[in-house]
Amino acid sequence: MRRNVFIKTFGCQMNAVDSARMLSLLSQADYGAAASLEEADLVLLNTCCIREKADQKIYSELGVLRRWKQRRAGRLVGVGGCLAQQAGDALRRRAPHVDIVFGTHNISKLPEMVRRAAERVPSLELAMNGDVGHWDIPPYLPGGATSAMVTIMQGCDNFCAYCIVPLVRGREVSRSSGDILAEARALAERGVLEIVLLGQNVNSYGNKEGEIPFHDLLLRLSRVEGIRRIRFITSHPRDLDERTIGRFSEIEALCPHVHLPLQSGSDRILSSMGRGYTLREYFGKVAALRKARPGIAFSSDFIVGFPGETEDDFLRTLEAMEVVRYDSSFSFRFSPRPGTHAAEMCGQVAPEMSGERLGRLQALQDRHTRGRLSEFVGRETPVLVEGESAKVRGKLCGRTPCHKTVNFTEGSGEGPIRKVRVTSARAHSLAGEEIP
Ligand code: SAH
Ligand code: SF4
Ligand code: F3S
Repeated sequence: MRRNVFIKTFGCQMNAVDSARMLSLLSQADYGAAASLEEADLVLLNTCCIREKADQKIYSELGVLRRWKQRRAGRLVGVGGCLAQQAGDALRRRAPHVDIVFGTHNISKLPEMVRRAAERVPSLELAMNGDVGHWDIPPYLPGGATSAMVTIMQGCDNFCAYCIVPLVRGREVSRSSGDILAEARALAERGVLEIVLLGQNVNSYGNKEGEIPFHDLLLRLSRVEGIRRIRFITSHPRDLDERTIGRFSEIEALCPHVHLPLQSGSDRILSSMGRGYTLREYFGKVAALRKARPGIAFSSDFIVGFPGETEDDFLRTLEAMEVVRYDSSFSFRFSPRPGTHAAEMCGQVAPEMSGERLGRLQALQDRHTRGRLSEFVGRETPVLVEGESAKVRGKLCGRTPCHKTVNFTEGSGEGPIRKVRVTSARAHSLAGEEIP
């Protein structure tokens, strides 16, 4: 009998692509994708625990699922991803209606776990033995997709003082370049024009395995027929090297946008975070990238209220933002995570203080975002169409090479890449019209 699964994804792109793998796997076990919770026989939460708020969201979601499960016999609930890895059995003690708990390295066991759960045997699979085991499961891709994510590595060895990722995703492991290239070719054959390479620290790709270096991987991918755009996340400012920076002038398909998380503009805080670079070194890389590809866009992540952060440290972050003028950024209040070094540090900043700093930082970012967007008004730009605009009816939505969202009126053009004249800038996107 055909059944339906509803997967709810929290957290980052790593989870998004893992959810797409879960869907592929379960479709082989006769599960279709449910359009809503009510249609579903099985609900999977793919969870995140990067900040405390992320945890809370998931526990409140589990409360909703307890009632959902009671409404019809035979319904199943599974929890995977980072919070599942971290909480393990404690999750089932807190939410006994959960049938399946599986960690970040156990996705391939999902069909077996679901089969057991249907026979009322709960599963707990949390082994992290270095073998990721699910890279060969092709993530489900909707028909007509123009962009796809390709995992190139998993885990992280950096242990930034605040970060739980190494604890829940394990040590860094890179995938073979042959497999990555094969996946890119298969995607291109399906009509995908853009690939987004995924890893917690893409610049150290392959170092441990003796694979080709990241800059060579970029070169080889750029030669895959049909691939017109390449992006990658995330770059670590310490490990982004000259050869990779040079690729921005050599490879046209490499998109002019780099996500380069600064975290803080204070060298004292950067050192206490264990980030491994100074502000000056960071600025050096930004300048080199701007030289290699004039007009390149930057985005960043920031943490405010890291233990020991003073007003002066915080002002340095704002100053650094004025220097780079990021196109966009994600910013968060420091959240102490169990098992991390920073959770135990003295000098924890009061939540009101970090909340106030976050507000100032985000106001500055909004100004910069608007400024950056307004630079595009009147310009012509190629746009990779992602589909109909969800926000503005009757318009198409897509991305510029530097990753700006554009909603535009369709002209007589055809195909996935259209030429668009930008007519106005909104707070977080551009509007325009297609030109012949
Ligand atoms: N590997 C990536 C992403 C890590 S998680 C990288 O190195 O940049 C994404 C972002 O979440 C981080 O860049 C950081 O800004 C934020 N983050 C991680 N742990 C956090 C914590 N304990 N409190 C607040 N923000 C955190
Ligand atoms: Fe976390 Fe640092 Fe690794 Fe990024 S580089 S995942 S912030 S430990
Ligand atoms: Fe969250 Fe795990 Fe990603 S903790 S941010 S889903 S790696």
